[in-house]
Amino acid sequence: MDFFVILASDICWLEMEKIKLYDKTFRLYIPYERISEAIDRVADKINADFRGCTDIPVVLCILNGSVLFTAELMKRLEFNCELVSMKLSSYSGTISTGVVRNLLGPTSDLSGRRVIVVEDIVDTGNTIVALSEYMKETKAADYKVCTMLLKPDVYKKDVNLDYVGMEIPNRFIVGFGLDYDGIGRNYKDIYVLDEE
Ligand code: IMP
Ligand code: MG
Repeated sequence: MDFFVILASDICWLEMEKIKLYDKTFRLYIPYERISEAIDRVADKINADFRGCTDIPVVLCILNGSVLFTAELMKRLEFNCELVSMKLSSYSGTISTGVVRNLLGPTSDLSGRRVIVVEDIVDTGNTIVALSEYMKETKAADYKVCTMLLKPDVYKKDVNLDYVGMEIPNRFIVGFGLDYDGIGRNYKDIYVLDEE
C-alpha cells in the first residue's frame, strides 16, 4: 500500500497562518480544501451543461489571476475543450482603477466558438463587463462566465455570472492566483489583508 509521511515541518509550510507581501500582512482565510471543493461544484455544473457537446468549447483563461483556477478546473472537465488566454488588468495595489486594459490576446480566434470565460474574482465587475462587450465584438457564438470568487456587496452590474465558486465579503485577498502588486499568486490557500 502506498502512503505519504507528512512531517511537522511540512504542515507549517502547507498552511501558513500569516504571510507578508511587501508592506502588508495577510492572514489565512480560505484553506485549499475549501477552494478545491468549490472547484468540484463548479466543474460539476459545467460538465452537466457541456458533457456530450459536439463542438469544442473554448476555456478562456483571464491572465494572470485565473491561471491556478483554470488549471484546476480544466482537470475536472469531461469534454473536449481548447485553452485560450487573454490578459487584462484593472488593479493597482489593493484598489480597482476602474479602467480595464487589454494587455494580451486572445491567443486564438473566438468567432463562432462557445466560450467559457474563467475569472479568478468578480469585484466591481468592470472586467466582466469589458469581456462581455468583447465577446459580442469578436462574434463568439455564445459565452458563459465562470468565476472562482464573487464579492456580491460590490458587484452591481448586469452581466450574468453563470458559475460562481464562492462568495466573499468586500475584503482584499491574495493567494491561489490572486496578487498584491504582482506577488502572492503562488500560495495555495487564500489570505485576507490583516487590518489589525
Ligand atoms: P473587477 O473588474 O473590479 O471585477 O476586478 C476584476 C479583477 O481585479 C480580478 O480579476 C482580479 O484580478 C482583481 N481583483 C479584484 N479583487 C481582488 C482582490 O481582492 N485581490 C486581488 N485581486 C483582486
Ligand atoms: Mg483577474
